[in-house]
Amino acid sequence: MAFTYEQYVESAEYLRERLPFLPRVGAILGSGLGIYAESLEEKTVIRYEEIPHFCRSTNESHAGELVLAKVGENPVLMMSGRFHYFEGYSLEQVVFPVRVMKLLGVETLVVTNAAGGINTSFTEGDFMLIDDYIKLVDASPTRGENLPQFGPRFFDMGNAYDRELRAKAEEVAKGLAISLRHGVYAWMGGPQFETPAEIRMLRTLGADAVGMSTVPETIAANHCGIRVLGLSCITNMAAGIKDEVLSDEDVVKTAGKVSARLVKLMDGILRGI
Ligand code: HPA
Repeated sequence: MAFTYEQYVESAEYLRERLPFLPRVGAILGSGLGIYAESLEEKTVIRYEEIPHFCRSTNESHAGELVLAKVGENPVLMMSGRFHYFEGYSLEQVVFPVRVMKLLGVETLVVTNAAGGINTSFTEGDFMLIDDYIKLVDASPTRGENLPQFGPRFFDMGNAYDRELRAKAEEVAKGLAISLRHGVYAWMGGPQFETPAEIRMLRTLGADAVGMSTVPETIAANHCGIRVLGLSCITNMAAGIKDEVLSDEDVVKTAGKVSARLVKLMDGILRGI
């Protein structure tokens, strides 16, 4: 199903009427990382099901709400819980909120996720700044009729994760004495975890981490001129690296263990950009 430009506007108008101020920064909080939104005081919360054309988040570790708050001086609109391709949504539905953020005035988007570590120098609980992505899923949120109000038909992805933002994030992490890895994120469709053979393939291709999200939102944001910063929490080593069975429970458990550090890092980043 394709959305019309008017549907994005309708959703943005609905939010504009209910938000006490408009955001300049957007953030998407991935699996088990919604803890950051919970940690904020003085926030406005709007549930997805109330917003015209928004999907519902079917994933248990995703709250399914928009949270608006000031982080330092920065007005930030957070998605606590995102939509995934594996839930059965079209990629246009997955990135719908990003385009609504654009209409509300968002200039910078911070996307976070839980990911499996492919680079064997990584360990569970590490944070990885996303330098770039590899997309093997044969679909794009901008496939189909282009909406020129958001951006051109063909567009550059050479700075998908903005260099300046990455440098700032590195600085913030250093100041907080939080160690930050960096690398390439490979997007796989899921919901099944990868096979060990797929992970070996991804390593050969140059990937450092693997996950089931983030890339569609990154594409939609680049299309409409929003700068993107990507942050992965390495919740497990990817399939076949260790002799262990992968499960969503373990992903959420690790995300929970590092939540205090993540809250600190996210807060510093959102304040500093
Ligand atoms: N693979 C894909 N997605 C993930 C993983 C993984 O190992 N860990 C967390 N999200």
